Amino acid sequence: MVLSTERELQTAVAAARAAGRPVALVPTMGALHAGHLSLIQAAVAKAHENRPFVVVSVFVNPTQFAPGEDFQSYPRDPAGDHAAASAAGADVVFQPTVTEIYPLDRKLPTFPLPAVATRWEGELRPGHFAGVCQVVARLFQMSDADRAYFGEKDYQQLQVVRAMVRDSLHDAVRVIGCPTVREPDGLALSSRNRYLSADERRRATAISAALQWACGRVDADVCDAAILQSGVRTQLESAGMTVDYAAVVEAGTLEPLGRIGDVPARLLVAARLGTTRLIDNCALVAPTVRSQQDTAQ
Ligand code: PAF
Repeated sequence: MVLSTERELQTAVAAARAAGRPVALVPTMGALHAGHLSLIQAAVAKAHENRPFVVVSVFVNPTQFAPGEDFQSYPRDPAGDHAAASAAGADVVFQPTVTEIYPLDRKLPTFPLPAVATRWEGELRPGHFAGVCQVVARLFQMSDADRAYFGEKDYQQLQVVRAMVRDSLHDAVRVIGCPTVREPDGLALSSRNRYLSADERRRATAISAALQWACGRVDADVCDAAILQSGVRTQLESAGMTVDYAAVVEAGTLEPLGRIGDVPARLLVAARLGTTRLIDNCALVAPTVRSQQDTAQ
């Protein structure tokens, strides 16, 4: 079922709730690929309770694009998205207009931006996370979701949404992060991959290869962040990319780390290949922590 207004969505959600079904939201900007479908499948496959009522929103949110970014050219395929989301188990595909999301006659709540939004994408894309928080909070409000699913591919976005929910929404929604889905050659799925030329697509695999290299170095007990960062940077530059950042960070706050140690760490990467900007990340686990985890299992 495709719905486009807040009223229609709220009527459908109320009926689902009356039938005892919890509400799960999968927010997307459409052009759905297997990464999105894995979120929908995760939302559907909830055991030990009534089947969730799964709402997939498809909305290319203008407020999270800076001037000069790809808002106009961002891929749009409403009919294909409806078919794909329904086949993956969505109950509702919510495809609102801009004025439905941002009604001119109503003041919508605003929230302070969490500190975790400051660095990395926050620095390079001013206004981006303010727009993401604005639309996600609005989608939460419209769908009355109990839980919401986000991909780890946009790792900072996931942490920003978690922080917003914790700090401003009283934990009203459970935010669930799902693993990145990759092409067989390692490239993380993204709607923006379709911008790549055949040659760029080949070279784009350098990102996941560099992340794997870094994990291998950490397994070999190379835990110095500077060594890992410069190794990743060199590999991406050798593949013809301009590196925005390659950063070893604490996994929750995204503050830079000097060494991989006891605290959970993440390697965040953003690089440009021609006119396409790609981001990716992976967990880094120190050998000492890994062996403790293995013993505990
Ligand atoms: O990750 C995305 O596709 C978007 O940033 C989101 C979360 C749907 C908000 O527009």
